[in-house]
Amino acid sequence: MKKLSARRRHPLAAVVVLLLALAATGGLYAAFAPAGKAQADETAQSLAIDEGKKLYSVGCASCHGSGGQGTTDGPSLVGVGSAAVDFQVGTGRMPAQQPGAQVPKKKVIYNQAEIDQLAAYVASLGAGPITPTKSQVDPSGADVAKGGDLFRTNCAQCHNFTGQGGALTKGKYAPNLEGVSAKHIYEAMQTGPQSMPSFPDTTMPEQEKKDIIAYIKTVNGSESESPGGLSLGGLGPVSEGLFGWIFGLGGLIAIAVWVAAHTAKAKKS
Ligand code: HEC
Ligand code: HEC
Repeated sequence: MKKLSARRRHPLAAVVVLLLALAATGGLYAAFAPAGKAQADETAQSLAIDEGKKLYSVGCASCHGSGGQGTTDGPSLVGVGSAAVDFQVGTGRMPAQQPGAQVPKKKVIYNQAEIDQLAAYVASLGAGPITPTKSQVDPSGADVAKGGDLFRTNCAQCHNFTGQGGALTKGKYAPNLEGVSAKHIYEAMQTGPQSMPSFPDTTMPEQEKKDIIAYIKTVNGSESESPGGLSLGGLGPVSEGLFGWIFGLGGLIAIAVWVAAHTAKAKKS
């Protein structure tokens, strides 16, 4: 008894107790918390892949093959990544209905949870671009002017300088970008659907993609008024030139006619 209380009063006793307590807490945490969470994530992931595989077999396998290897009716999906599935199914392009120059957008028939499952299954076939997170695609605080520059250099040749879209060769077309969600714009750049080139992070970093999204949202849609007044459809020199001809020249002709009529009257009287 005397011995113990003497030890308790030893100057190092407090340190020893503290170390023991720390080791115990650390050990317990290591034993339970992270392992439990990792395991839960893993089971959730493999459940999503299983569910996605079921949806895939029913809706997609006929064209893309039972294991995503592709058939004559659809390309291989090995390595296209979850972002490609989220884009294609989330914009209603997939499942495709009939062959044509370009698969059109349709009503989206899967809900987001099902799309995530399909994406998880396709991503399990081979690594590819990953569906971006909310913060990755959020354009708030991005540089709209820089986005405009990037858009004019990289996208305007197909999508027109304010994203109104335009025709390409062989019945293909670059769609109008109005109303397309920030996530789908980001994924289009990541995956390059159809005849669009892809812009991976190595050539176009995340921040530049955000700047482009900010630009598209500024010149298109309801987020802001057109800074120059009436936009005339944003179609460029054709509509703006036509406006100039009809109202500008029309106005001049009207004035000329008015002046001529008045000089004629003045002469008569
Ligand atoms: C009727 C046949 C058909 C069905 C059904 C179909 N696809 Fe497709 N899919 C295609 C074709 C054809 C393309 C090529 C698209 C194009 O050229 O416009 C394609 C392209 C894709 C791409 C883009 C691949 C890439 O290289 O970026 C993805 C992803 C995709 N399909 C996923 C799906 C998923 C998921 C389903 C089921 C929900 C599905 N498809 C159902 C025919 C089909
Ligand atoms: C060579 C022409 C070309 C270039 C350059 C191009 N695109 Fe595209 N883009 C297309 C085509 C074609 C499609 C339609 C693909 C489809 O329907 O499968 C498309 C589709 C899209 C879509 C999907 C729109 C929708 O309605 O779902 C977005 C968003 C998009 N492009 C953004 C961009 C951005 C941003 C850039 C520049 C970084 C760019 N594109 C550069 C041709 C192009």
